[in-house]
Amino acid sequence: MTTFDIVIRNGMIVTATDKYTADIGINGSKIVDIGFDLKGHETIDATGLLVLPGGIDGHCHIEQEEADGTIHEDDFVSATGSALLGGTTTVVCFASHVPGRGLVEQFDAYREKGGNSRIDFAIHQIITRTDEQTIRDEIPVVAERGAAGLKVFMTYDDFHLTDGQFLQVLEAARKSDIIVSVHCENYDAIRHLILQHLAEGRTEPHGHATSRPPAVEREATYRAMTMGELVDQKIQIFHVSCPEVAEEIARAQSRDVKVVAETCPHYLTLTEDDLKRDGFEGTKYICSPPLRTKAAQDGMWQYLRNGVISIISSDHCGYTFDGAVGKGRHGRDADFSLIPNGMPGLGTRLPVFYDAAINGGKIDLTDFVRLTATTPAQRYGLYPEKGTIAPGSDADLVLWDPKKSVTITNALFQSNIDYTPYEGRQVQGWPVKVFQRGVLAMENGTVIARPGTGRFLRSRRG
Ligand code: URP
Ligand code: ZN
Ligand code: ZN
Repeated sequence: MTTFDIVIRNGMIVTATDKYTADIGINGSKIVDIGFDLKGHETIDATGLLVLPGGIDGHCHIEQEEADGTIHEDDFVSATGSALLGGTTTVVCFASHVPGRGLVEQFDAYREKGGNSRIDFAIHQIITRTDEQTIRDEIPVVAERGAAGLKVFMTYDDFHLTDGQFLQVLEAARKSDIIVSVHCENYDAIRHLILQHLAEGRTEPHGHATSRPPAVEREATYRAMTMGELVDQKIQIFHVSCPEVAEEIARAQSRDVKVVAETCPHYLTLTEDDLKRDGFEGTKYICSPPLRTKAAQDGMWQYLRNGVISIISSDHCGYTFDGAVGKGRHGRDADFSLIPNGMPGLGTRLPVFYDAAINGGKIDLTDFVRLTATTPAQRYGLYPEKGTIAPGSDADLVLWDPKKSVTITNALFQSNIDYTPYEGRQVQGWPVKVFQRGVLAMENGTVIARPGTGRFLRSRRG
């Protein structure tokens, strides 16, 4: 009888389609067998635990450069440590397209930075310009080098594309067979509403939510899908925040428009009332699209159950609360429109979503795995090495204690970001051991994987 390097014994294995109790045999970096009474040089008893595929977070802003040269404060070492502490073994993060430098140069430089990662990573390429070099020469090269997708913005001063530019990107993406993910909010409508708010003296953080109502997200989503339809190019709507938008996507999907969608735990667990917290505290909750109402939150679950929304990502975007280039970079009296947009969420993604989704009775465990690991792996060309538990797959595994209750506090995630929006929230269900490619990478709140152990994952599309 074969003796495996490691056997994980008697855990409840969960995939996107099955739940069953068995042993997993690992040799080197791979799962090689699933069965009963397997023998290993090392045996890990997983009785009473769930064994999940390592989480795949498809939307993380890590060590990303902004147009003004600022670098996001969570770097590859810190962010990927937090990822492991929360049960995530793969991230898909973003190469910038800042002025004055070419696309391929920025893709290559970002891949180089990822050399410090503790976990495996893939890369989305942001597109902010549509000059001939970008469209004709460089998009095909980054696709060829294994980018997981392109990302475009319909809002933000430094990023947004016109409809004409967006169509150019879609045409180029179709030729290179690469998905385009879109941040859908109407730039001009938001500018108009921000100016109105400021003229009325409504400068407090909650103005962020009222100046970006669901209609600006719904309109942009409809427009993005229409353009995808015109070009016959697959798009993904990133960070859907409310049912009005999900409903629009469902309508397009029923006409066979090639559109898929993502949402994030914060749209399912936090509300716009969090923006009303005392003084500057509300800025911790500024992200775009903004947090919505409790009713919107409740309305989102049906779109996770029926598959209209098929991925849960963190949209991790760590700005410190107290640091020089964080939320307070323009001073503590700055109006809401000057506060950098984004919230940390890489470490908390799985525990917060598990607690709301599974303990809240909203979806099944197999759906949980589908939304947080399997579909992201499939969508970004990483499956079946990543995203499932099967012979031949990478041994990226999470031993998850469904009974463990934890009160979330930022210190648990050991990141460069000095706050979590979930401070003080009690959740049940927590990762106790994480293996990455057959090596123990996290155990009981201690990160073991060293910087540099992560590998760049080339997307295999098609
Ligand atoms: O507020 C957000 N979401 N910040 C991160 C950048 C983006 O829009 O995805
Ligand atoms: Zn976005
Ligand atoms: Zn984002």
